[in-house]
Amino acid sequence: MNNIKKLFSIALCTSVILTNVNFNSKAAVLIPKPVTHGMVASDHYLASKAGSDILKMGGNAFDAAVATSLVLSVVRTQSTGIGGGGFMVIHSAKGENIVVDYREIAPAKATRDMYLDKNKKPIPNLSTKGYKAIGIPGNLAGLDYVLKKYGTMKFKDVAKFAIKYAEFGFQIDEHFSGAAKTVNKKGALSGLKALVFRNGQPKEVGEQQKNIELAKTLKIISEKGVQDFYKGSIAKKIVAAMQKNGGIITLNDLANYKPKVRKPLMGTYRGYDIVTMPPPSSGGIALIETLNIMENYNLGWNSSGYESSKHIHTLTEAMKHSFADRAEYLGDPDFVKIPLSQLISKDYAKKLKNKIDQTKTLDSSDYGLKSLRNKAPISDAGTTHYSIIDKSGNTVAATETINTYFGSQVVIPNTGIVMNNQMDDFSVQAGVPNSFGLIGNENNSIKAGKKPLSSMSPTIILKNKKPFMIVGASGGPRIITGTLQAIMNVIDFGMNVEEAVSSPRFHHQWSPNKLFIEKEIPLDVRENLIKKGHILSLGEAENAVQAILIKDGKITGASDPRKGGFPEGY
Ligand code: GLY
Repeated sequence: MNNIKKLFSIALCTSVILTNVNFNSKAAVLIPKPVTHGMVASDHYLASKAGSDILKMGGNAFDAAVATSLVLSVVRTQSTGIGGGGFMVIHSAKGENIVVDYREIAPAKATRDMYLDKNKKPIPNLSTKGYKAIGIPGNLAGLDYVLKKYGTMKFKDVAKFAIKYAEFGFQIDEHFSGAAKTVNKKGALSGLKALVFRNGQPKEVGEQQKNIELAKTLKIISEKGVQDFYKGSIAKKIVAAMQKNGGIITLNDLANYKPKVRKPLMGTYRGYDIVTMPPPSSGGIALIETLNIMENYNLGWNSSGYESSKHIHTLTEAMKHSFADRAEYLGDPDFVKIPLSQLISKDYAKKLKNKIDQTKTLDSSDYGLKSLRNKAPISDAGTTHYSIIDKSGNTVAATETINTYFGSQVVIPNTGIVMNNQMDDFSVQAGVPNSFGLIGNENNSIKAGKKPLSSMSPTIILKNKKPFMIVGASGGPRIITGTLQAIMNVIDFGMNVEEAVSSPRFHHQWSPNKLFIEKEIPLDVRENLIKKGHILSLGEAENAVQAILIKDGKITGASDPRKGGFPEGY
């Protein structure tokens, strides 16, 4: 206990020192040192530190995962929290590969057309903001399952870090402040303003942020167990707020929530084994499908090379095929049939490779389903990812989310819980884009008890059956392409983990027909891509990768400088 207190004071002091360092420059200021025992890479230093402290105290990767996740709930309120859901991919020291799916579920009262008006037109903001946008949260149920099944510590011991930061505060960084400013542009809800604004305006970098109510909630859960959130006093508070404000989640919905253990999706890439997320995420399928296509090319460090227009064009074409298939086929596997083995087969990848023309990009209709078409894109990024390895070789890749910044913006009164807006990850109508510009069809339509299709791609890569890379990202559909490029940067281009996550990136999701590309990609390369017919949209990557690499007995980690995290290990 005293040990924990000591670690907190170190962590709190370190947070003050570290906020003076500019982590948001893509030329990362601090290079994490390689370690030999264990490491946590997350998108906030305090979360990595909490997880790493648990490892140092003798906890395993699963104890560390819960501590890291709960701290992220506090310091990354804009991205994740106990009002959200997630996926955890596990490779245990015993060699088991397991997935825990704690994605949000559509409430029993949800219906296919619940976001359409009587003329069958989508009602603006209904699936993204306010009580109707909320899916039944799974985060706590998932963490509780992992801790009880694989961990060694009690919830109250791993929750202490998060409780301290919620109660005593932490300093807001650029990402937090930027997210608050983003939601403020379209008018933030009053409960959220009360939580993260000062004098009606988003707080600036360096200002103190607390969530006293969330600290109380976490203390209640520490004492009474996670079941209090699903069946007890917290459940009652959630449902009372739902009833008062037009929400549809009931006590039964909460009480019936169960995390689901799944088999991971397995693939291979150039001799490495890929252990990744199956549906209801599209992430693993799209990742493996794209890597399978790319395996037919030699893009390695000895050939025409990294960041050439050949590299970007070829990978963009592969992304377009995978995302077109995403829109056509994917949804919750408990409700729809998915041609999984076809989509991740090497033969199918060869067929798609043969469609790729090196001189030009194809018409949108030459990829995937022809009935779905471009609509206006809206770009946004939320979500959080953490990668962990402990001294025994247990590894965790977890991606968790409340969806877009600050989720639905609903803060349940007297709990400090910010609720998700995951219902927007369903297709509210075939061909109508969601917040990320993603389209889908009937397979991803709304149904009671169904999970919305995700892009989250927590992934563990094995070499000779041993962990080699633990990786994943935040950023909606850009999760898939960010994770993909980090993997290829290591395997194909021989980069170290720091370079692999910070190098310039690009993204294409087939619809809208735009190649989103970072400014750092050289001008002549961009001009060549335009000549091949790509429509370029210059900007930021809008995704953030967290990765750990294990090579020659050394563990190195990197947190994407785009979001400002930092790994920690020993
Ligand atoms: N809400 C983002 C995702 O699950 O892909």
